Amino acid sequence: MAKIVAGIGTSHTPAIGAAVDLGRTAEPYWTPVFAGYEPSKKWMAETAPDVAIVVYNDHVNAFDFKIIPTFGLGCAAEFPIADEGWGPRPVPPVVGYPELAAHMVQSLVLDEFDMTIVNEMQLDHGLTVPLTLLYGQPEAWPARVIPLSVNVVQYPAPTGHRCYALGKAIKKAVESWHEDLKVVIFGTGGMSHQIQGPRAGLINTKFDTAFLDGLVDDPERLASIPPLKYLRDAGAEAIELVMWLIMRGALGPRAREVHRFYHVPASSTAVGHIVLEAVDGRARKAGANTTSRATRAKTKAKTRARRR
Ligand code: DHB
Ligand code: FE
Repeated sequence: MAKIVAGIGTSHTPAIGAAVDLGRTAEPYWTPVFAGYEPSKKWMAETAPDVAIVVYNDHVNAFDFKIIPTFGLGCAAEFPIADEGWGPRPVPPVVGYPELAAHMVQSLVLDEFDMTIVNEMQLDHGLTVPLTLLYGQPEAWPARVIPLSVNVVQYPAPTGHRCYALGKAIKKAVESWHEDLKVVIFGTGGMSHQIQGPRAGLINTKFDTAFLDGLVDDPERLASIPPLKYLRDAGAEAIELVMWLIMRGALGPRAREVHRFYHVPASSTAVGHIVLEAVDGRARKAGANTTSRATRAKTKAKTRARRR
C-alpha cells in the first residue's frame, strides 16, 4: 500500500528561486531564509519519499485565461519547466508518475471531485521553488512528482473546506494504490502577501501564526475560513494558503509538527514553512506519539494566551 507519511507547507516566492539560480544565497538578505529550511532539507534526505504530490498554483504560465481548471492533476510522464519571461529555471525536468496519477484521478472522480486530467503542462515557480527549497540543486529530482494545480489566480478560488475535503480524498486514493510507496504531499504558496495595488506589501504575522498553529491542531477551524477573509486579512495572494489545506487533509486527523519556520520578508511575501508527519492510530497506541502530545499542549497554551 502507498502511504502519505508527511506534509510540507511552504511559500513559493519566485525571488527565492532566482537567488538560488544566480548564486546569491549567501547574501545577508537571503541567509536567514535558506537557514530556515536546513532542518527540513536534512529531514527530506532522511525521509527519502518515492513520490511527492505537489499542490501548487500556476501563475498564468501553463494555463492562460482560455482554460482555467479549478483542480488539475498532472498525469504526464515528464513536465517541462516554464519560461516565465527570462528563460526556464535551470532545474531538472520534473518526472511524473502517470500510473499513480491516473489511479488518483479515477479514485477522486468516483469520490465526486471533478478533476481535470492534465496530460501536458509546463511547471512554474509555484512548483519548482518548493522543490528547490527542500531538495537544493540536485542533478535530478530524487522523487517522482505528481503536480496538482489549483486555481487561486482567477476568481473564484475553491473554498478551504473543499480543499480540505479533497485532501482527505487524496489520502484514500493513495492508500488504495497497490505498490508500497512512501509519499509526501506539499501544500505551497502563501503566507500573507499582496503583490499589487494600494495594499502591496501587506503582511499579517498574527494571521500567519494562527494558520500554522491551526494546521497542527485544528485544521477543521482553518477549513471554515471563507475565501474573502484570506484576501481581506492577509492580502490578495494569501488565498494561495487554501492549498495547504489539501496537504493537511491528506495527512488524516492527527499530525505531528517536525519543523516550523517563519520569516518576513522575502520579496513581498511572509515566508512560512512547516513539516508535519502523519500520526496514524497504530503509532498512537504504541505510545510513539509523546512528542505530538507535548507539541499540541504547547500550541494550545499559545492559542489560549493569544485569545486572552
Ligand atoms: C511573489 C510571491 C508569489 O507567491 C508570487 O507568485 C509572485 C511574487 C512575491 O513575493 O514577490
Ligand atoms: Fe504565488
